[in-house]
Amino acid sequence: MSGAPQVPTYPALVQELADRGLLTARWRQVFDAVPRSRFVPADVWRQLPDRCEPVVGTDAWLALVNSDEPVVTQLDDGAEDGPGIATSSNSMPSMVARMLGLLDVEDGQRVLEIGTGTGYVSALLCERLGDDLVHSVELDPVVAHQSADALAQAGYRPHLRVGDGEQPWPGLGLVDRLIATCALRYVPYALLRQVRPGGIVVAPLAREFWSGALVRLQVQANGTAVGPFCGGATYMPMRAHRLPDLHDVHGKGRSRAAGLDPARLLDLGFALFAGARLPGVRLIHKGAGEGVQVWVTREDGAGATAATGEEVWQYGPGFLWEEIEQTWWEYETEGRPDAEQFGLTVTDRGQQVWLRDPSEVIRPAKA
Ligand SMILES: C[S@@+](CC[C@H](N)C(=O)[O-])C[C@H]1O[C@@H](n2cnc3c(N)ncnc32)[C@H](O)[C@@H]1O
Repeated sequence: MSGAPQVPTYPALVQELADRGLLTARWRQVFDAVPRSRFVPADVWRQLPDRCEPVVGTDAWLALVNSDEPVVTQLDDGAEDGPGIATSSNSMPSMVARMLGLLDVEDGQRVLEIGTGTGYVSALLCERLGDDLVHSVELDPVVAHQSADALAQAGYRPHLRVGDGEQPWPGLGLVDRLIATCALRYVPYALLRQVRPGGIVVAPLAREFWSGALVRLQVQANGTAVGPFCGGATYMPMRAHRLPDLHDVHGKGRSRAAGLDPARLLDLGFALFAGARLPGVRLIHKGAGEGVQVWVTREDGAGATAATGEEVWQYGPGFLWEEIEQTWWEYETEGRPDAEQFGLTVTDRGQQVWLRDPSEVIRPAKA
């Protein structure tokens, strides 16, 4: 047996997605026909938990591109010497497969994608539906230019636009399907207005609370949209939907024993529940499993931090940690529902998260 490590291949990656049940027979053909490497530029970064690391050398590049990992293709909106935050990428293939599965396209349907990025998803949609039915909008002109080139070189000519995908595409008319490949803080009603009644919207939603989740909405005859959350999803945000860092926290810290291990808060179901009960509360965390530290803050200057096995520290007005614990006990009383039991309704007045049934809206807790 040779000791040389095997460089992963694209067919092996597609096989892995198929083995995981993420591709129908039709999508399998489509993925086979569209190599991911044609849509990834030479200079890329690997996303690590706390930073992006440049990928050096052909073998490392191929290994990343043919693995089920996101490939970062732009930092800091293209600015030199920025903090190194990923702002464009070729998404994780299993996430792409999941989203396209949820989109449930049929022959002849028109699709709008928000966030062309590298053009890979557009190419998959072109291969599935034909160029003329695929529309994709990208905000960043440099990224848009690169993806237009990559698509043309691979033989695909979808309708491309450089602009803000949060705004309606002038003259587009109604589409059957809309897929956002950048995370939304809320689903803009203007987006729904572009989708025909009965049409489907698939998007990653990232709320103030730590988690991101996929949502699959169906547009109703009255223009509202309703549908379930469908598992976790970490995507870079739509540019105008970027979340602020933690809020400034006021006052001296007060400590007390924790009534709850903060590790229990890092659950997608709880994130959806707490995001609806405590709107505007921001939660970030470090670590996973055994040793977790979380920080929570709110615009009024309230804050708290807690680490597994340590005391809790609270700051500013009120008792934010007590509110978090209270919300956890409410979640437990509900039977700790998992993320798939939650859903979202979007109307011209905003969006509401519900549990088990659209009539069971989760209302904000009284502060
Ligand atoms: C994860 S990447 C998209 C991946 C892409 N679908 C692919 O196949 O490579 C997210 C993209 O959304 C773009 N974006 C961010 N805000 C946007 C907006 N308001 N309108 C359109 N595109 C936006 C970013 O510039 C970035 O290229």
